[in-house]
Amino acid sequence: MSYENIIVEVHGAVGLIRLNRPKALNALNTALIRELNLALGAFSEDPQIGALVLTGSEKVFAAGADIKELQTLTYMDAYLGDAIRTWERLSYFRKPAIAAVAGFALGGGCELAMMCDFILAAENAKFGQPEIKLGILPGAGGTQRLARFVGKAKAMELCLTGRMMDAQEAERCGLVSRIVPSESLLEEALRTAKAIASMSLPIAMQIKDCINSAYETTMTEGVKFERRNFHAAFATQDQKEGMAAFIEKRPAKFVNR
Ligand code: CAA
Repeated sequence: MSYENIIVEVHGAVGLIRLNRPKALNALNTALIRELNLALGAFSEDPQIGALVLTGSEKVFAAGADIKELQTLTYMDAYLGDAIRTWERLSYFRKPAIAAVAGFALGGGCELAMMCDFILAAENAKFGQPEIKLGILPGAGGTQRLARFVGKAKAMELCLTGRMMDAQEAERCGLVSRIVPSESLLEEALRTAKAIASMSLPIAMQIKDCINSAYETTMTEGVKFERRNFHAAFATQDQKEGMAAFIEKRPAKFVNR
């Protein structure tokens, strides 16, 4: 499969997708999202792939939805075509996904990064939801995910003013898991993804499901869901292997990898 708007690579058990429309600062147009979804589908089906890294360039992750494409959209086009619906594919990707963000992650770019399981930020990363300055609002989950991840006050301020926050502020408020020196962002993201991909895939998927359910359900129901998943872990060969390896003082070699 050849792509025009993204670059797809395989690094061992890690699938890497680079957003690649440099002249438009990786603005997310329909063609790019279509390609992204195809690549996600291919990595979902590939049993060799245990984790995903989504990144942009050193200068920009993505400057948001393609404004030139949105400019002429009418309400009827948006409503009947269910605009932005297809962007959700990433949030249903079942394997662990890391966003490696350098430079701007604005509007839909920030929203795409938030659909990943966690964000590693380069020192030069800048996050924001500037849609209000365009006379629109975030449309790919920004108001919902940002509010859950950074809290009401910060989400309100960012979405209502459209101001950008730097990597330090993003780390302080919990939007990013870690800041990495810009020159080693991709290397660190791949190293982290490879470490995750060496674990049991079904267990990693269960962890992802459980943590995500913390944003969807009550504490009691969430703890119950976690316990059911915990019980199910004992049905896997990987639990037997992981515990045997610990007792025998050797590295585990998971079967479902
Ligand atoms: N859509 C389309 N083109 C874009 C773009 C976007 N989101 N962002 C940048 N570009 C284009 C510019 O038009 C420009 O193209 P030309 O050379 O043909 O003029 C090129 O990329 C370089 O951009 P700038 O000259 O503006 O670069 P800069 O370094 O001066 O500024 C920036 C960088 C601050 C990111 C600025 O480009 C910017 O503010 N971009 C728009 C950010 C934005 O508003 N994003 C939200 C989009 S709406 C959305 O995402 C809705 C949603 O929730 C789904």
